[in-house]
Amino acid sequence: MIPNLTHAATMTKPTQLPLTPEATPLIRVASAHKSFALPAGGQFHAVRDVSLSVRAGDIFGLIGKSGAGKSTLLRLINLLERPDRGTISVGGRELTALSKRELRAARANIGMIFQQFNLLQNASVFDNVAFPLRLRGGLDKARIAQRVEECLALVELGAKSDSYPARLSGGQKQRVAIARALASGPAVLLCDEPTSALDAETTRALLATLRDINRRLGVTIVIVSHELSVIGDICNHVAVIEDGAIAEQFALADAARLQHAALTTLGRELARHVAAGMAGIAGAIGAADTRKEALHA
Ligand SMILES: Nc1ncnc2c1ncn2[C@@H]1O[C@H](COP(=O)(O)OP(=O)(O)OP(=O)(O)O)[C@@H](O)[C@H]1O
Ligand SMILES: [Mg+2]
Repeated sequence: MIPNLTHAATMTKPTQLPLTPEATPLIRVASAHKSFALPAGGQFHAVRDVSLSVRAGDIFGLIGKSGAGKSTLLRLINLLERPDRGTISVGGRELTALSKRELRAARANIGMIFQQFNLLQNASVFDNVAFPLRLRGGLDKARIAQRVEECLALVELGAKSDSYPARLSGGQKQRVAIARALASGPAVLLCDEPTSALDAETTRALLATLRDINRRLGVTIVIVSHELSVIGDICNHVAVIEDGAIAEQFALADAARLQHAALTTLGRELARHVAAGMAGIAGAIGAADTRKEALHA
């Protein structure tokens, strides 16, 4: 569990979060297209006219085979990749319409973590987390130190402040990356295969941390993974990506109904995986109830 702390968003202007599901989604990708020039000439269309809405508070999964375009689509959301066509809006602001300076400020509202952690190897844990705050400017040393401490406490790494990344386990490195991503108080956290370099137990712990960050801080999460268990464990909504397009999307609450009805093989596999988990939980609850009844008989 994460300790109580002042909400991350205290560091930024309050985001205009939609209050109802009908309101404007927090993230809106509209007819976005991205192609890359091939070395031999011609174009490779990595993302093809994708439209996507993510509601505030969602944990939204992007699943698909290798090369399907998941990372490119994720990177479009914070404009690490700029779409050739289409628009990207986050928190009601159209990022694709902003100047470079405005975009830099808007990005404080969108944190990101990666499979390989991407920490600064020659900087301490403290300095890694402080990095985006120093880059942004406008905060004195004491305020930066306070914020870094808050963020490290959030991922239960307060004791590692002076360590260097080389001395940390993979799970700890990813927690530092999460602390760094949350330092500027974003409303959105983008995660690109955040557990693919971790073992099963560390994966479970990291997913629990992400779930806690979503529930307790209200941070909306978009997570890319090719692992059914990861998506099934943490997401409430999923989009299956095939050949740069959304093949289908659904709420995981509908998994039981979609075991045979989902459109894609991956969608059906995911629905089956989630439904089996739900049945397992229902079974365990049922068994506990039976035991309770037996005790009271
Ligand atoms: N900068 C780039 N230049 C050229 N081609 C690229 C570039 N980035 C991605 N691609 C191509 O676009 C396609 C989609 O790549 P992307 O990294 O989005 O896939 P992915 O679904 O994340 O795959 P993986 O699961 O392997 O990470 C791939 O064929 C990839 O080679
Ligand atoms: Mg990828």
